[in-house]
Amino acid sequence: MSQLLEKLHKDHINLARLLDLLSAQLDALFAGHESDFDLKIELLDYIEHYAEQHHHPTEDIINAAAFRKASMQEHKALYERVSREHEALLGMAHRFRETLEGIMQGEILRREEVETRGREFIALQRQHIDLEEQELFPLIDQALSKKDWEKLESQIPHMDDPVFHRQDYNRFRSLIDYLELHESE
Ligand SMILES: [Fe+2]
Repeated sequence: MSQLLEKLHKDHINLARLLDLLSAQLDALFAGHESDFDLKIELLDYIEHYAEQHHHPTEDIINAAAFRKASMQEHKALYERVSREHEALLGMAHRFRETLEGIMQGEILRREEVETRGREFIALQRQHIDLEEQELFPLIDQALSKKDWEKLESQIPHMDDPVFHRQDYNRFRSLIDYLELHESE
């Protein structure tokens, strides 16, 4: 498997861990337990911005190259679905983060509305990762040659992950602390 696909696969593992955490946080919130809003907001900020600036654009460049191949034309619907979902996911993460920030600032929102926004985002994100891992990546892996990957590697800018690698502590303090504390889980 190419280094780029491996990197995307690692992003998915990290993302899946964050979605489990977000889901558990929402369970606690809606059960009326104490809830860490900073943690949730940082988590969504990370998903929104790392996905927006790096993960999805990387996938989009790779997908565009792969789906130019004749062998991939029969899978065009998959390409369109993945591209559409990238856009939808971004909007959902953004809206849900704004919702949580609004609550923190004293905005009154219906519980069901908050819960629906959060649960729908988590569900689509999980489903999207599964689709990429199970259907898209194997096809891409077959479609692209070693030479194609070399070209892609030179085209795609490198970006350090601000939570799992570079650790931007000013921006993601609560999230980094939480993940370190629960490392072995
Ligand atoms: Fe992805």
